[in-house]
Amino acid sequence: MRPVEIKEGVHWIGVVDWNCRNFHGYARSANGTTYNAFYIEDEKKVLVDTVSKEFESQFICSLSHLTKPEEIDYLVVNHLEPDHAGCLAKMVELCKPEKIFVSVMGGKALKTFFDCEDWPVHVVKPGEEVSIGKRTLRFYETRMLHWPDNMFTFVPEEKLLFTSDAFGQNIAASERWVDEVSKEMVEDHMQQYYANIITPYSPKVIKTLETFAGLNLDIDMICPDHGLMYRGDDCAFALEKYMDYAKQTPKNKATLFYDSMWHSTERMINAVASGLVSEGISVKVMSVKANHHSDIMSEVFDSAAIVIGSPTHNNGILPGMADALTYVKGLRPQDKIGACVGSFGWSGECVKILNEWLEKMGCEIIEPGLKAKNRPNHDMLKECFQLGVAIAAAIKEKTGK
Ligand SMILES: Cc1cc2nc3c(=O)[nH]c(=O)nc-3n(C[C@H](O)[C@H](O)[C@H](O)COP(=O)(O)O)c2cc1C
Repeated sequence: MRPVEIKEGVHWIGVVDWNCRNFHGYARSANGTTYNAFYIEDEKKVLVDTVSKEFESQFICSLSHLTKPEEIDYLVVNHLEPDHAGCLAKMVELCKPEKIFVSVMGGKALKTFFDCEDWPVHVVKPGEEVSIGKRTLRFYETRMLHWPDNMFTFVPEEKLLFTSDAFGQNIAASERWVDEVSKEMVEDHMQQYYANIITPYSPKVIKTLETFAGLNLDIDMICPDHGLMYRGDDCAFALEKYMDYAKQTPKNKATLFYDSMWHSTERMINAVASGLVSEGISVKVMSVKANHHSDIMSEVFDSAAIVIGSPTHNNGILPGMADALTYVKGLRPQDKIGACVGSFGWSGECVKILNEWLEKMGCEIIEPGLKAKNRPNHDMLKECFQLGVAIAAAIKEKTGK
């Protein structure tokens, strides 16, 4: 894509990755993604972030529509992850910049990514300002949002905030702005992105948003490094959504995810789902074979309860279920009600192991879990249904709805 002027003299020079389906190699990105980078033309010429290495030639070509790389004076590295700093070494080589701005933690990490002893690195203090002519770059440390080195760069004269991964979505599109597409689609992708990337750092998100609210910055453009950008009223929308996500307010909803070889555990899960639905709770029933773990996480994210199921397999649980649980637990979803079911043939460890997972995730386990030998009979399925009813009552108590 050609550069897009987003403010006079400020250009988007990203690439659209139409084919990305596995973001960072682990999260589903069914709608592709973009790597956004920016060029500011002033007395000093500034490049804010770069793109993934595989798009290096596209990136240089895009930049060349605006300037010669050797005319760039400053590089801003808001985040060192390779999808944003993938072309950094090349840009240092081509631009021979006067300065490279990184956060305190970025300065430390830079040395572990690059042979950068002779680079003109300038480690910025939080809130530090640098004049680039008519405009100023002001740097804010946003540590652990979502790596230690993250920072935001604000251009007060343009009311423009570059936020790296925060507020991003995995959307490949010809449009550049949230207001050019359906808001529902954007919300869906914002939540998916948050659930799968940012969830563990929710306390940091709340602190950062509170700090920014206290600064009373006049912001009328938020430019993340992935997906569409926000302008005008959409900036408030992005900030509100993030506060909402960070609080992890649960809905009257349960996500049931499971694995099953011969459908016994599946029948139990379906009976629990039926009990939940009979009490007016919305459910998502997700086999780990049919659903990617990041889609499961996107549903777990706003659920008040999770119900997990696996048969006993070689004195453990099925590997697909262990995969999903490892992933979901790593993202530290907060404050969930938990319950489990499973079928077994002889030793029957499944429920004990699933309960251990629920405990490790800090779930409020409301029942000891149900185990069915070989096939769940009618009475067992009734018990599963009743478990669903009991979870529904606990959800309503939790959400107050
Ligand atoms: C390869 C294999 C290993 C198994 N290992 C165990 C085991 O260690 N302990 C046990 O109680 N049952 C074991 N089972 C039996 C299953 O747990 C049992 O068939 C269960 O009903 C399957 O539930 P599902 O229909 O949800 O897959 C094993 C079954 C298979 C096929």
